[in-house]
Amino acid sequence: MKKLIFLIFISILYADDMITPISEVPYNKEKAILGKKLYNDTSLSKDGTVSCNTCHRTDNFGVDNKEFSTGVKGQLDKPFNTPTTFNSVFNFVQFWNGRAKDLKEQAKVPFFNPIEMGLESDSELIQKVNANAAYINDFKKIYGEINIDNIMDAIAEFEKTLVTLNSPFDRYLQGDATAISQKAKRGYEAFKNNGCIACHQGKNIGGNMYQKIGVFEDYPNQEVLGRYEITKNPEDKMVFKVPSLRNIAKTAPYYHDGSIPTLDACVQFMAYYQLGKFLDQKTVDDIVAFLESLTGEYNDQIK
Ligand code: HEC
Ligand code: HEC
Repeated sequence: MKKLIFLIFISILYADDMITPISEVPYNKEKAILGKKLYNDTSLSKDGTVSCNTCHRTDNFGVDNKEFSTGVKGQLDKPFNTPTTFNSVFNFVQFWNGRAKDLKEQAKVPFFNPIEMGLESDSELIQKVNANAAYINDFKKIYGEINIDNIMDAIAEFEKTLVTLNSPFDRYLQGDATAISQKAKRGYEAFKNNGCIACHQGKNIGGNMYQKIGVFEDYPNQEVLGRYEITKNPEDKMVFKVPSLRNIAKTAPYYHDGSIPTLDACVQFMAYYQLGKFLDQKTVDDIVAFLESLTGEYNDQIK
Protein backbone atom coordinates (compact mmCIF):
# COMPACT_ATOMS: atom_id res chain seq x y z
CA MET A 1 0.00 0.00 0.00
CA LYS A 2 2.82 2.43 0.93
CA LYS A 3 4.60 1.58 -2.32
CA LEU A 4 1.42 2.28 -4.25
CA ILE A 5 0.82 5.64 -2.60
CA PHE A 6 4.40 6.61 -3.46
CA LEU A 7 3.86 5.43 -7.05
CA ILE A 8 0.69 7.51 -7.33
CA PHE A 9 2.46 10.56 -5.88
CA ILE A 10 5.42 10.30 -8.28
CA SER A 11 3.10 9.63 -11.22
CA ILE A 12 1.06 12.76 -10.59
CA LEU A 13 4.30 14.79 -10.57
CA TYR A 14 5.60 13.35 -13.83
CA ALA A 15 2.23 12.61 -15.44
CA ASP A 16 2.73 14.76 -18.52
CA ASP A 17 5.35 12.48 -20.03
CA MET A 18 3.92 9.16 -18.99
CA ILE A 19 1.73 8.36 -22.00
CA THR A 20 3.35 8.30 -25.44
CA PRO A 21 1.97 7.61 -28.94
CA ILE A 22 2.47 4.24 -30.62
CA SER A 23 4.00 3.61 -34.00
CA GLU A 24 4.25 0.62 -36.30
CA VAL A 25 6.20 -2.44 -35.24
CA PRO A 26 8.62 -3.89 -37.82
CA TYR A 27 7.52 -7.29 -39.10
CA ASN A 28 8.24 -9.82 -41.82
CA LYS A 29 5.44 -9.61 -44.38
CA GLU A 30 5.67 -13.18 -45.73
CA LYS A 31 5.45 -14.60 -42.22
CA ALA A 32 2.59 -12.25 -41.31
CA ILE A 33 0.59 -13.33 -44.39
CA LEU A 34 0.98 -16.94 -43.33
CA GLY A 35 0.21 -16.03 -39.71
CA LYS A 36 -2.99 -14.31 -40.77
CA LYS A 37 -4.20 -17.50 -42.48
CA LEU A 38 -3.45 -19.54 -39.37
CA TYR A 39 -5.11 -16.93 -37.11
CA ASN A 40 -8.33 -17.18 -39.11
CA ASP A 41 -8.34 -20.93 -39.72
CA THR A 42 -11.10 -22.82 -37.87
CA SER A 43 -9.84 -26.16 -39.26
CA LEU A 44 -7.03 -25.95 -36.69
CA SER A 45 -9.45 -26.53 -33.79
CA LYS A 46 -10.73 -29.87 -32.52
CA ASP A 47 -14.18 -29.71 -34.07
CA GLY A 48 -13.42 -27.24 -36.88
CA THR A 49 -15.52 -24.43 -35.42
CA VAL A 50 -13.06 -22.08 -33.71
CA SER A 51 -10.08 -19.94 -34.74
CA CYS A 52 -8.19 -17.21 -32.91
CA ASN A 53 -10.42 -14.81 -34.80
CA THR A 54 -13.59 -16.31 -33.27
CA CYS A 55 -12.74 -14.68 -29.96
CA HIS A 56 -10.25 -12.01 -31.08
CA ARG A 57 -12.05 -10.57 -34.11
CA THR A 58 -9.83 -8.40 -36.27
CA ASP A 59 -12.96 -6.70 -37.67
CA ASN A 60 -13.95 -5.78 -34.11
CA PHE A 61 -10.89 -4.38 -32.27
CA GLY A 62 -9.59 -7.83 -31.39
CA VAL A 63 -12.53 -8.89 -29.19
CA ASP A 64 -16.03 -10.39 -29.44
CA ASN A 65 -17.63 -8.10 -26.83
CA LYS A 66 -18.90 -11.09 -24.84
CA GLU A 67 -18.60 -11.60 -21.11
CA PHE A 68 -17.16 -15.02 -21.95
CA SER A 69 -16.27 -16.25 -25.44
CA THR A 70 -17.38 -19.55 -26.92
CA GLY A 71 -14.79 -22.21 -27.71
CA VAL A 72 -14.98 -25.69 -29.23
CA LYS A 73 -18.10 -27.80 -28.70
CA GLY A 74 -19.98 -24.63 -27.77
CA GLN A 75 -18.25 -24.35 -24.41
CA LEU A 76 -18.21 -21.05 -22.52
CA ASP A 77 -14.62 -19.84 -22.01
CA LYS A 78 -14.72 -19.10 -18.28
CA PRO A 79 -13.38 -17.66 -16.00
CA PHE A 80 -11.62 -14.97 -18.09
CA ASN A 81 -13.02 -12.26 -20.30
CA THR A 82 -11.19 -12.23 -23.66
CA PRO A 83 -8.65 -9.40 -23.85
CA THR A 84 -7.92 -7.79 -27.20
CA THR A 85 -5.09 -8.95 -29.45
CA PHE A 86 -4.85 -5.37 -30.77
CA ASN A 87 -1.67 -3.67 -29.53
CA SER A 88 -0.94 -6.74 -27.36
CA VAL A 89 2.55 -6.68 -28.91
CA PHE A 90 3.22 -3.66 -26.67
CA ASN A 91 2.32 -5.51 -23.43
CA PHE A 92 5.29 -6.55 -21.28
CA VAL A 93 3.80 -10.02 -20.76
CA GLN A 94 0.69 -11.79 -22.08
CA PHE A 95 -2.48 -13.02 -20.28
CA TRP A 96 -4.27 -11.41 -17.37
CA ASN A 97 -1.85 -13.08 -14.98
CA GLY A 98 1.19 -12.62 -17.22
CA ARG A 99 2.01 -16.30 -17.58
CA ALA A 100 3.32 -16.03 -21.16
CA LYS A 101 6.41 -13.94 -21.78
CA ASP A 102 5.57 -12.94 -25.36
CA LEU A 103 3.16 -13.43 -28.25
CA LYS A 104 4.91 -16.54 -29.51
CA GLU A 105 4.72 -18.28 -26.16
CA GLN A 106 1.12 -17.14 -25.74
CA ALA A 107 -0.09 -18.42 -29.14
CA LYS A 108 0.61 -22.03 -28.22
CA VAL A 109 -1.77 -22.01 -25.28
CA PRO A 110 -5.23 -21.60 -26.92
CA PHE A 111 -4.64 -24.47 -29.39
CA PHE A 112 -4.33 -26.89 -26.47
CA ASN A 113 -6.80 -25.32 -24.07
CA PRO A 114 -9.69 -27.86 -23.91
CA ILE A 115 -12.29 -25.08 -23.89
CA GLU A 116 -10.73 -22.86 -26.57
CA MET A 117 -9.44 -24.91 -29.53
CA GLY A 118 -9.26 -28.29 -27.82
CA LEU A 119 -6.30 -30.02 -29.50
CA GLU A 120 -4.61 -32.75 -27.51
CA SER A 121 -1.03 -32.87 -28.77
CA ASP A 122 1.59 -31.05 -30.82
CA SER A 123 1.36 -33.74 -33.46
CA GLU A 124 -2.39 -33.21 -33.81
CA LEU A 125 -1.80 -29.55 -34.64
CA ILE A 126 1.01 -30.34 -37.06
CA GLN A 127 -1.20 -32.92 -38.76
CA LYS A 128 -3.96 -30.35 -39.23
CA VAL A 129 -1.56 -27.81 -40.71
CA ASN A 130 -0.12 -30.53 -42.95
CA ALA A 131 -3.60 -31.30 -44.28
CA ASN A 132 -3.50 -28.03 -46.23
CA ALA A 133 -1.29 -28.04 -49.32
CA ALA A 134 -0.95 -24.25 -49.31
CA TYR A 135 0.54 -24.36 -45.80
CA ILE A 136 3.03 -27.04 -46.81
CA ASN A 137 4.28 -24.74 -49.55
CA ASP A 138 4.32 -21.61 -47.39
CA PHE A 139 6.20 -23.22 -44.51
CA LYS A 140 8.69 -24.83 -46.85
CA LYS A 141 9.42 -21.52 -48.51
CA ILE A 142 9.59 -19.36 -45.36
CA TYR A 143 10.82 -21.69 -42.62
CA GLY A 144 11.93 -24.93 -44.27
CA GLU A 145 9.49 -27.05 -42.27
CA ILE A 146 6.22 -27.19 -40.32
CA ASN A 147 6.80 -27.36 -36.59
CA ILE A 148 5.20 -25.87 -33.47
CA ASP A 149 7.79 -23.14 -33.10
CA ASN A 150 7.32 -21.97 -36.69
CA ILE A 151 3.52 -22.03 -36.46
CA MET A 152 3.64 -19.80 -33.38
CA ASP A 153 6.27 -17.56 -34.94
CA ALA A 154 4.04 -16.87 -37.95
CA ILE A 155 1.01 -16.10 -35.77
CA ALA A 156 3.03 -13.76 -33.55
CA GLU A 157 4.37 -12.01 -36.65
CA PHE A 158 0.80 -11.38 -37.82
CA GLU A 159 -0.15 -10.07 -34.38
CA LYS A 160 2.58 -7.43 -34.70
CA THR A 161 0.43 -5.89 -37.44
CA LEU A 162 -2.58 -5.52 -35.12
CA VAL A 163 -1.61 -2.04 -33.98
CA THR A 164 -4.03 0.88 -34.03
CA LEU A 165 -2.34 4.14 -34.97
CA ASN A 166 -3.75 7.66 -35.25
CA SER A 167 -6.08 7.71 -32.27
CA PRO A 168 -7.28 11.26 -31.63
CA PHE A 169 -5.32 11.23 -28.36
CA ASP A 170 -2.07 10.20 -30.09
CA ARG A 171 -2.60 13.00 -32.61
CA TYR A 172 -3.15 15.37 -29.70
CA LEU A 173 0.12 14.23 -28.10
CA GLN A 174 1.85 14.75 -31.44
CA GLY A 175 0.82 18.40 -31.44
CA ASP A 176 -2.66 18.61 -32.97
CA ALA A 177 -4.39 20.62 -30.23
CA THR A 178 -7.80 20.22 -31.86
CA ALA A 179 -7.69 16.42 -32.20
CA ILE A 180 -9.66 15.90 -28.98
CA SER A 181 -12.58 17.75 -27.40
CA GLN A 182 -12.42 20.09 -24.38
CA LYS A 183 -14.25 17.40 -22.46
CA ALA A 184 -11.59 14.80 -23.31
CA LYS A 185 -8.86 17.31 -22.31
CA ARG A 186 -10.52 17.75 -18.93
CA GLY A 187 -10.76 13.97 -18.73
CA TYR A 188 -7.02 13.59 -19.39
CA GLU A 189 -6.31 16.08 -16.58
CA ALA A 190 -8.64 14.16 -14.24
CA PHE A 191 -6.97 10.88 -15.30
CA LYS A 192 -3.60 12.34 -14.29
CA ASN A 193 -4.67 14.24 -11.17
CA ASN A 194 -6.64 11.37 -9.67
CA GLY A 195 -3.76 8.94 -10.14
CA CYS A 196 -5.16 6.61 -12.81
CA ILE A 197 -1.92 7.26 -14.67
CA ALA A 198 0.11 5.63 -11.89
CA CYS A 199 -0.99 2.27 -13.29
CA HIS A 200 -2.27 2.96 -16.82
CA GLN A 201 0.73 4.55 -18.50
CA GLY A 202 3.41 4.08 -21.15
CA LYS A 203 2.76 3.66 -24.85
CA ASN A 204 -0.02 1.15 -24.31
CA ILE A 205 -1.59 3.17 -21.47
CA GLY A 206 -1.30 0.00 -19.43
CA GLY A 207 0.36 -3.32 -20.15
CA ASN A 208 3.66 -2.47 -18.47
CA MET A 209 3.19 -3.56 -14.83
CA TYR A 210 1.24 -5.77 -12.43
CA GLN A 211 -1.11 -4.30 -9.85
CA LYS A 212 -3.68 -5.56 -7.40
CA ILE A 213 -7.37 -5.16 -8.22
CA GLY A 214 -9.07 -4.05 -5.04
CA VAL A 215 -6.46 -1.86 -3.32
CA PHE A 216 -8.80 0.12 -1.05
CA GLU A 217 -11.74 -2.28 -1.09
CA ASP A 218 -11.63 -6.04 -1.73
CA TYR A 219 -12.68 -6.98 -5.23
CA PRO A 220 -15.88 -9.03 -4.78
CA ASN A 221 -15.06 -11.85 -7.23
CA GLN A 222 -12.14 -13.85 -5.83
CA GLU A 223 -12.69 -16.89 -8.08
CA VAL A 224 -9.31 -16.42 -9.76
CA LEU A 225 -6.40 -14.98 -7.82
CA GLY A 226 -4.19 -13.56 -10.57
CA ARG A 227 -0.38 -13.68 -10.21
CA TYR A 228 -0.74 -15.67 -6.99
CA GLU A 229 -1.69 -18.70 -9.07
CA ILE A 230 1.75 -18.54 -10.72
CA THR A 231 4.00 -17.38 -7.87
CA LYS A 232 2.11 -18.69 -4.76
CA ASN A 233 3.30 -15.53 -3.04
CA PRO A 234 0.44 -14.26 -0.79
CA GLU A 235 1.27 -10.68 -1.82
CA ASP A 236 0.31 -11.58 -5.38
CA LYS A 237 -3.33 -12.38 -4.54
CA MET A 238 -5.63 -10.52 -6.96
CA VAL A 239 -2.64 -9.02 -8.76
CA PHE A 240 -3.15 -8.79 -12.54
CA LYS A 241 -1.42 -7.23 -15.49
CA VAL A 242 -2.74 -3.68 -15.75
CA PRO A 243 -4.68 -3.75 -19.03
CA SER A 244 -4.03 -1.36 -21.91
CA LEU A 245 -6.67 1.33 -22.31
CA ARG A 246 -6.18 1.72 -26.07
CA ASN A 247 -9.53 1.14 -27.86
CA ILE A 248 -11.13 0.61 -24.48
CA ALA A 249 -14.43 2.18 -25.64
CA LYS A 250 -14.71 -0.69 -28.16
CA THR A 251 -13.84 -3.65 -25.96
CA ALA A 252 -16.66 -3.94 -23.41
CA PRO A 253 -17.40 -5.73 -21.14
CA TYR A 254 -14.62 -4.96 -18.67
CA TYR A 255 -12.29 -6.46 -16.05
CA HIS A 256 -10.73 -9.92 -16.08
CA ASP A 257 -14.13 -11.45 -15.32
CA GLY A 258 -16.10 -9.37 -17.83
CA SER A 259 -18.42 -8.30 -15.03
CA ILE A 260 -18.71 -4.58 -15.85
CA PRO A 261 -20.75 -3.78 -18.96
CA THR A 262 -20.11 -0.04 -19.37
CA LEU A 263 -17.12 2.26 -19.35
CA ASP A 264 -18.93 4.68 -17.09
CA ALA A 265 -19.34 2.06 -14.34
CA CYS A 266 -15.83 0.83 -14.97
CA VAL A 267 -14.29 4.26 -14.27
CA GLN A 268 -16.39 4.72 -11.14
CA PHE A 269 -15.35 1.28 -9.83
CA MET A 270 -11.69 1.90 -10.63
CA ALA A 271 -11.73 5.12 -8.62
CA TYR A 272 -13.40 3.29 -5.74
CA TYR A 273 -11.37 0.05 -5.67
CA GLN A 274 -7.99 1.41 -6.75
CA LEU A 275 -7.89 4.95 -5.42
CA GLY A 276 -10.41 4.96 -2.58
CA LYS A 277 -12.27 7.85 -4.21
CA PHE A 278 -15.78 8.63 -5.29
CA LEU A 279 -15.76 10.68 -8.50
CA ASP A 280 -18.68 12.98 -9.32
CA GLN A 281 -20.57 12.17 -12.51
CA LYS A 282 -19.10 15.10 -14.44
CA THR A 283 -15.56 13.92 -13.78
CA VAL A 284 -16.53 10.38 -14.77
CA ASP A 285 -18.04 11.70 -18.02
CA ASP A 286 -14.87 13.66 -18.74
CA ILE A 287 -12.67 10.61 -18.15
CA VAL A 288 -14.93 8.53 -20.40
CA ALA A 289 -14.52 11.18 -23.14
CA PHE A 290 -10.75 10.92 -22.71
CA LEU A 291 -10.94 7.12 -22.90
CA GLU A 292 -13.03 7.39 -26.07
CA SER A 293 -10.23 9.45 -27.64
CA LEU A 294 -7.95 6.40 -27.31
CA THR A 295 -9.70 4.57 -30.16
CA GLY A 296 -7.22 4.14 -33.01
CA GLU A 297 -7.41 2.89 -36.59
CA TYR A 298 -6.65 -0.60 -37.80
CA ASN A 299 -5.51 -0.80 -41.39
CA ASP A 300 -5.19 -4.37 -42.50
CA GLN A 301 -1.92 -4.38 -44.45
CA ILE A 302 -1.83 -8.14 -44.84
CA LYS A 303 -3.83 -8.74 -47.97
C1 HEC B 1 -12.48 -19.34 -27.16
C2 HEC B 1 -11.89 -18.01 -27.16
C3 HEC B 1 -10.43 -17.82 -27.51
C4 HEC B 1 -9.73 -18.36 -28.57
C5 HEC B 1 -10.20 -19.33 -29.62
C6 HEC B 1 -8.41 -17.76 -28.50
N1 HEC B 1 -8.33 -16.92 -27.43
FE1 HEC B 1 -6.79 -15.71 -26.99
N2 HEC B 1 -7.61 -15.32 -25.21
C7 HEC B 1 -8.86 -15.73 -24.78
C8 HEC B 1 -9.00 -15.46 -23.37
C9 HEC B 1 -10.21 -15.76 -22.51
C10 HEC B 1 -7.78 -14.89 -22.95
C11 HEC B 1 -7.40 -14.49 -21.52
C12 HEC B 1 -6.98 -15.74 -20.80
C13 HEC B 1 -6.09 -15.50 -19.61
O1 HEC B 1 -5.63 -14.36 -19.42
O2 HEC B 1 -5.80 -16.46 -18.91
C14 HEC B 1 -6.94 -14.78 -24.14
C15 HEC B 1 -5.70 -14.16 -24.18
C16 HEC B 1 -4.97 -13.93 -25.35
C17 HEC B 1 -3.84 -13.04 -25.48
C18 HEC B 1 -3.23 -12.20 -24.38
C19 HEC B 1 -3.61 -10.75 -24.52
C20 HEC B 1 -3.22 -9.95 -23.31
O3 HEC B 1 -3.31 -8.72 -23.35
O4 HEC B 1 -2.81 -10.52 -22.29
C21 HEC B 1 -3.41 -13.12 -26.79
C22 HEC B 1 -2.24 -12.38 -27.42
C23 HEC B 1 -4.26 -14.08 -27.45
N3 HEC B 1 -5.23 -14.53 -26.55
C24 HEC B 1 -4.10 -14.53 -28.76
C25 HEC B 1 -4.76 -15.66 -29.25
C26 HEC B 1 -4.35 -16.40 -30.43
C27 HEC B 1 -3.14 -16.10 -31.28
C28 HEC B 1 -5.27 -17.41 -30.60
C29 HEC B 1 -5.27 -18.51 -31.64
C30 HEC B 1 -4.09 -19.38 -31.67
C31 HEC B 1 -6.25 -17.26 -29.53
N4 HEC B 1 -5.89 -16.21 -28.72
C32 HEC B 1 -7.41 -18.04 -29.40
C33 HEC B 1 -9.82 -16.30 -25.58
C34 HEC B 1 -9.52 -16.96 -26.77
C1 HEC C 1 -3.40 0.69 -8.61
C2 HEC C 1 -3.41 0.56 -10.04
C3 HEC C 1 -4.58 1.13 -10.81
C4 HEC C 1 -5.12 2.39 -10.73
C5 HEC C 1 -4.70 3.53 -9.84
C6 HEC C 1 -6.18 2.42 -11.73
N1 HEC C 1 -6.28 1.23 -12.38
FE1 HEC C 1 -7.58 0.77 -13.88
N2 HEC C 1 -6.99 -1.17 -13.78
C7 HEC C 1 -6.00 -1.67 -12.96
C8 HEC C 1 -6.01 -3.11 -13.02
C9 HEC C 1 -5.07 -4.06 -12.30
C10 HEC C 1 -7.07 -3.46 -13.90
C11 HEC C 1 -7.52 -4.87 -14.27
C12 HEC C 1 -8.52 -5.30 -13.23
C13 HEC C 1 -9.22 -6.58 -13.55
O1 HEC C 1 -9.37 -6.90 -14.72
O2 HEC C 1 -9.68 -7.26 -12.64
C14 HEC C 1 -7.66 -2.21 -14.36
C15 HEC C 1 -8.73 -2.12 -15.26
C16 HEC C 1 -9.20 -0.92 -15.78
C17 HEC C 1 -10.16 -0.82 -16.85
C18 HEC C 1 -10.80 -1.98 -17.58
C19 HEC C 1 -9.86 -2.53 -18.62
C20 HEC C 1 -10.34 -3.77 -19.31
O3 HEC C 1 -9.83 -4.07 -20.40
O4 HEC C 1 -11.22 -4.47 -18.80
C21 HEC C 1 -10.37 0.52 -17.07
C22 HEC C 1 -11.28 1.16 -18.12
C23 HEC C 1 -9.57 1.25 -16.13
N3 HEC C 1 -8.86 0.33 -15.36
C24 HEC C 1 -9.54 2.61 -15.98
C25 HEC C 1 -8.98 3.27 -14.89
C26 HEC C 1 -9.26 4.64 -14.53
C27 HEC C 1 -10.13 5.60 -15.32
C28 HEC C 1 -8.57 4.88 -13.37
C29 HEC C 1 -8.58 6.13 -12.51
C30 HEC C 1 -9.89 6.50 -12.01
C31 HEC C 1 -7.84 3.66 -13.04
N4 HEC C 1 -8.14 2.71 -13.97
C32 HEC C 1 -6.99 3.52 -11.96
C33 HEC C 1 -5.12 -0.92 -12.21
C34 HEC C 1 -5.33 0.40 -11.84
